[in-house]
Amino acid sequence: MSLAGKRILLIVGGGIAAYKCLELIRRLRERGAAVRCILTKAGAEFVTPLSLSALSEDKVYQDLFDLTAEAEMGHIQLSRDADLLVVAPATADLMARMAGGQANDLASTTLLATDKPVMIAPAMNVRMWEHPATQRNLGQLLADGVLQVGPNEGNMACNEFGFGRMAEPDEILSAIEKHFDGHAATRPLDGLTALVTSGPTHEAIDPVRYIANRSSGKQGHAIAAALADLGAETVLVSGPSSEPDPTGVRLVRVESARDMLAACRAALPADIAVCAAAVADWRVDGAAGQKIKKRNGAPPALSFAENPDILKTMSRLRKDRPKLVVGFAAETEDLIENARAKRDRKGCDWIVANDVSPDTGTFGGDNNRVHLVTGDTVEDWPKMSKNEVADRLANRIAGHFADAAE
Ligand code: PMT
Repeated sequence: MSLAGKRILLIVGGGIAAYKCLELIRRLRERGAAVRCILTKAGAEFVTPLSLSALSEDKVYQDLFDLTAEAEMGHIQLSRDADLLVVAPATADLMARMAGGQANDLASTTLLATDKPVMIAPAMNVRMWEHPATQRNLGQLLADGVLQVGPNEGNMACNEFGFGRMAEPDEILSAIEKHFDGHAATRPLDGLTALVTSGPTHEAIDPVRYIANRSSGKQGHAIAAALADLGAETVLVSGPSSEPDPTGVRLVRVESARDMLAACRAALPADIAVCAAAVADWRVDGAAGQKIKKRNGAPPALSFAENPDILKTMSRLRKDRPKLVVGFAAETEDLIENARAKRDRKGCDWIVANDVSPDTGTFGGDNNRVHLVTGDTVEDWPKMSKNEVADRLANRIAGHFADAAE
């Protein structure tokens, strides 16, 4: 995609990943974009103004109190004279200052003064990334409408492993193109297939009555839409839900857990499976063929049979096991401990733990506060909308596949 005529203000923060910005500038320029750089004081420890200036063929702005620069172009004009502001690397400190609305250097002042979209490419040590303070700041920035690309998982300069590596120049470029295009020329999950379960299941008692739960399908539907938006060919297997059909997704409607399992099997093979449905663990054994009548006040005796476990079945398939199986754990106590045990028991790769205690309003509500359990690591995500949870999960899945392809 051509970026001809687009003006990017690149704010280079202080992290080892700053060197990737040089390649990013080159790629942006190749596509016709004009790039102007702000280099923070810490950023200048990693790349020189000369390299940025040579590649962008423009002046590099560094100092809020530089009279000459202010006379040529004040920081307010700098912030308005761009179509998009890209912060890369977005360090923990820069993110914290952005989230707090601080304006104590040229970068933060420009970011506060802008009326243009802002994109961040976070980069930091994995512990710093996972720290609740950083996650809180990220949640605030996303809620403020800031766009995010990365970080990815991998080895870090500090010899640790995990999430915190800045997205590659190509990924940042795709995100910028997607922003301008509304739809990326190439999307990160293009060529992959996904299967998502959503909503409750209804387990018949007789032809007119059933056992159900409070799941609305909001979270699962949002995940299917987010995966499709990133390019995955997505099948959504949903129990009864009044949520609108997500666009770009093939929807298969089912009633019971057994129907859901059959529909999931029929949708295989898939590269990605996300089981967000609240599947009934039990069904009525031998549901009545006719409506059960009252019999002189004697209640009917119902006996139950265990339903198939769809997540476990998907995770333990010998043939056609999806490459990445993500489960959900709806818990009301000992959230992380129970989620970890559930992940091990069911054999899925990742599990998204969410507190569904009645006062959280998770079931049926618009927001969710989740913790992503991947192997030994647990990421605490701040409370956000179910759409944001879905976008973030879809991006994490895209990052996982990008890393696997490297
Ligand atoms: O639909 P919403 O109103 O938006 O609410 C979202 C949600 C709370 C339903 C969702 O975020 C969620 O947590 N979904 C999982 C609910 C659940 O059944 O959790 P669980 O801990 O009982 O099950 C663990 C995992 O096993 C889940 O991935 C579930 O889909 C799966 N499972 C469970 C039982 C079963 N028989 N088959 C399964 O596949």
